[in-house]
Amino acid sequence: MFVTFEGIEGTGKSTQIAMLRQYLEAKGRRVLVTLEPGGSRVGRELRKMLLHMEGKDLTGETELFLYLADRAQHVSQVIRPALDRGQAVISDRFADSTVVYQGYGRGLDPKLLHQFNKIAVAGLWPELTILLDIDPELGLKRAMTRNMREGKVKEEGRFEAESLSFHKRVREGYLMWAALNKERFKVVDASPGAQAVFEDIRRVVDERFGT
Ligand SMILES: Nc1ncnc2c1ncn2[C@@H]1O[C@H](COP(=O)(O)OP(=O)(O)OP(=O)(O)O)[C@@H](O)[C@H]1O
Ligand SMILES: [Mg+2]
Repeated sequence: MFVTFEGIEGTGKSTQIAMLRQYLEAKGRRVLVTLEPGGSRVGRELRKMLLHMEGKDLTGETELFLYLADRAQHVSQVIRPALDRGQAVISDRFADSTVVYQGYGRGLDPKLLHQFNKIAVAGLWPELTILLDIDPELGLKRAMTRNMREGKVKEEGRFEAESLSFHKRVREGYLMWAALNKERFKVVDASPGAQAVFEDIRRVVDERFGT
């Protein structure tokens, strides 16, 4: 079982992943929760470069190749070995984030990005991708509140600091990309309370995997 979560900042990806992990473990599955960027040792170094406020001088191309490097390492060192050990893997962001943020968000060609992703993932695609969809104003409000509470504005705040119009483009991009990849994507409304959102996710996961 390989499931990925996508969606703009503050949609509740981390929150829902924690709930799904608990649910699956209670059913006796061994679960590995991982994330991008930063799922591997090398990836953790890359994450600092990618998300720190000082990374404002990264060019679009540099940003792209750092994400792809993170992904290639993540797949070969972390995700594939875990699946081979029989674990269920849940990743907080994966290849679709690149198509959507660097493509629909920053204006690079989504089809070309998909080709780069093919190299990075080396044939390993998720069986299910849950897109948490929310109005960016609400998502950003959630993310900002969390960053302030956790004192992480500087280390992790680069995307939250982007303009609202950027996040609106990203949201629309996610919905377009999901429509083009219907067999893998499920779009879930992330605006209700966490428990209600999880009910939808649980239904989707049960349907797909017969858990
Ligand atoms: N359904 C919800 N309703 C209200 N608040 C929520 C909901 N889900 C999560 N939150 C809160 O919103 C904040 C952001 O949630 P979370 O960190 O899970 O989002 P995320 O998608 O992982 O964000 P990021 O992309 O920045 O990692 C947290 O403080 C969380 O407690
Ligand atoms: Mg998160």
